[in-house]
Parts: sequence; C-alpha cells; structure tokens
Amino acid sequence: MEKTKVAIVGLGTIGTGVARLLLDHGDRTARHAGRTLWLEAVVDRDVTRPRNVDLPDGLLSDDLARITQNREIKVVVELIGGLEPARTIVLELLRNGKDIVTANKALLAEHGAELFDTARELGRSIAFEASVAGGIPIITNISQCLSANQILSLRGILNGTSNFIVTKMEEGMEYQAAVSAAQRMGFAEANPAMDVDGTDAAQKLAILAHLAFGARVHWKDIPRQGIDTLNPADLRYARELGGYRIKLLAVAQLIDGVLELHVAPTLIRKGLPLAEVRDAYNAISVVGDAVGPVFFHGLGAGQMPTASAVVADMIDTAVGRTALTFKTLELWSRRGAQVAIRDHAHLQGRFYLRFTVEDHPGVMARIAGVLGAHDVSIASMIQREPDSDSDGTAVPLVIMTHMTTEGATRAAVEEIDRLPCVLRDSVRMRVLD
Ligand code: HSE
Repeated sequence: MEKTKVAIVGLGTIGTGVARLLLDHGDRTARHAGRTLWLEAVVDRDVTRPRNVDLPDGLLSDDLARITQNREIKVVVELIGGLEPARTIVLELLRNGKDIVTANKALLAEHGAELFDTARELGRSIAFEASVAGGIPIITNISQCLSANQILSLRGILNGTSNFIVTKMEEGMEYQAAVSAAQRMGFAEANPAMDVDGTDAAQKLAILAHLAFGARVHWKDIPRQGIDTLNPADLRYARELGGYRIKLLAVAQLIDGVLELHVAPTLIRKGLPLAEVRDAYNAISVVGDAVGPVFFHGLGAGQMPTASAVVADMIDTAVGRTALTFKTLELWSRRGAQVAIRDHAHLQGRFYLRFTVEDHPGVMARIAGVLGAHDVSIASMIQREPDSDSDGTAVPLVIMTHMTTEGATRAAVEEIDRLPCVLRDSVRMRVLD
C-alpha cells in the first residue's frame, strides 16, 4: 500500500492522542485514506517526559531539522500551541514544502492572514478542523457541507472548560475547585485564564465568523466577557426566573445584513438545546437560509476528541481533499471583509440585572427610574429579604428586562452603580429565550 509520511511537532496531550491513533489504528486510517499514514518523526523540546503512548525507538527528538530536511515527510501536525515559536515553525515547515494540520486557534486568530497567504504563495495547505470545538466537525460543515446556504446565525458553547465549571457550580462545587478539576482532566488551556475570561471562545468565534460570514474580525475586537466573575447566586436566580441556565455563549448573527458578534455569559431558557449542554461538551446551533436550524453537539476538548479531528485532517490532506478546498475558499486572504460588523451598543436583547442595594424606602423606585430614563423596561423582578450571604442591610434586587439594547442597559447600569444606595458593582447578562 502507498505510504504518506507524516510528522508531529509538539507531543503534549493532543500530540500523544494523534500518535496513538496513527500507531494503534493504522489499519483504520489506511482504510479511509487508501494509503498508510506513516509516522516518520515526532519533535518536542522535552524528550524525557513520560507519555501514554509507545513510540518506536528513535522516533522522538528535539531536532526540527529531522522534519524540515526530510523531503519525504509531506504532512506535519503543529500541536505546540500558543503564538511563538508555533508561528515561526509553521512558516519554516511551509517553506520546506510541508502541508500543515493544526489545532492552534490562537495562532490562526492572530496570524491567520500571514500563514494562509504564505501557504497559498507556496502552493501548500493548512487544515484546522481541531482548532474549534475539538471533536465536532464544525469547520468542515460550515465551509463545505453547508456551502449552499447563507448562514444566518451561529450560537455556540465553544469553551468546554467554562461549561464544565458552570455545570459543576450548578451542582454546588466552588468556582476554584471546578477550575482545578478542569485542569486535571486535561481540557483547560495551559493558562486557564484564557478559558474563563472569554478569550478562547472569542478566538474560536473569530474563526467561525470568518468562515461563515466572510468577516475579517480580530478576536480582540469581539466584545467578550467570561465566567470568571460568575456568582453562584446568579445561577440560582436564573433558575427561579422561569428556568434559565447560564452558559458562556459565543454569538454571530446577521441582522439586516449586518453582523452582530459577542461572547458573554448568557441566561438560556431551559428546553432550548443549548441550555442542556453540560460538562465539557461544546455545541453549536447554526441556522442557514436553505437548511434551517442544525445542531452540533460533542466533546470540544480533550485528548482523543481533538486527536480525532486532527487525524481526519491528516487523511484529507494526504489524499488531496484539503488542497482543493483550501484553493477555492480563499481563507484569510487579505481581501476585504464581506460583511459589516454592528456596533456593540446597538446589539438587541433581553437582559438579566442584579443589583446589591440598601434596604431603604425609595431604592427600588430610584433604580426603576434610571432604567426607565434609558428606555429599559422591566419584565419581572425578584427582591429578597437580607439573607446569610448579605451583610445585614444589603439586599439583592434582580430584574429581567424586556427587549432593549446593550448600550441602553450598559449606560443605565453605570448610572445605577453611582447611586449611594447601590453597595456593589452590579451584574448584567444577556438572555436567550
Ligand atoms: N481549552 C479549550 C476548552 C479546549 O476548554 O474548550 C481547546 O480549544
């Protein structure tokens, strides 16, 4: 059987999973590729750390030249993560005639244009299915299977770590204990701040918005908020307000031809499929103008789900499918954006607001007055007597609004937070009904 020689740079959690699939299930990859994917070299700067894979002697080294100088190696998987040295190494691999498979969303979100332009100039390709939502084949679906559609909206739970943490907090676990558990299970980023502050989800949303809408948006320009400030009280109030669950939601939707983008903890009404996505699972709800709603659900992180996407990309690259789509899609070309992005202040929606206020006459009226002055209408409200969480005089005041805008609620909350009767910074979250 024909052989395509492949290599891995970066033998961490995912790299080890990829090596295991190639070495332990070569028959499977051969059946789908019609050729053997022969693992010729593995490079990592640490060659001594124990890993849960049996590599043949001599395969692992810390010498990148064993890949760049071996003309027989055609496909190289970059699984180093982060920006540098990953960027420099990918450029060097491309210049040495290698096609690239990567799971590195940070690299694509930051340097996609440079890497894709270089690959195009050199007649090479870059495949990146594993960069968004791990094992869920969302890149292929959006860029190929749904290509007859204008995508109208895309709503995703794209960070497994955040979803795991929120799920565990709903079950009563403390925030920090849930973060540690996510790290032990291997799906948190090396720097878990990127998971919980919305960075990872914004980087993935930038990639999906690029593919689905032709948006040329830098992830830093996507308004984002993480779950790092989430309070267990909000999870309780969300339930009480008619059965909502809080999820870190990444949204891209076309409204009147303009694209709205944001990442934010969002109250999602129970019963909607996204509200039922638990633990480290990811999900993406896509609406296309021809296909209607489509829902993708699966493990968005972890060794074998991500390795599953990487090896599928390796097969596609080895048989030539990636080169075809890469040429036609013109990804990350320096061509102008195909869609305008809506100013964040104009984003519409319902909002959940929680104020911590003094329990005095007239406080509720003052808050309602400020909301009214900003044209924010109250749909429902919860006010409790001081409880064990409060310091005696402070009471929580929870408000669900009618449809309004991001800008109006932000301005109202900023004004409310300056009132002397408001004791702490308020909480403001979006709602999906
Ligand atoms: N750290 C990411 C997550 C997985 O928790 O979803 C890699 O993208």
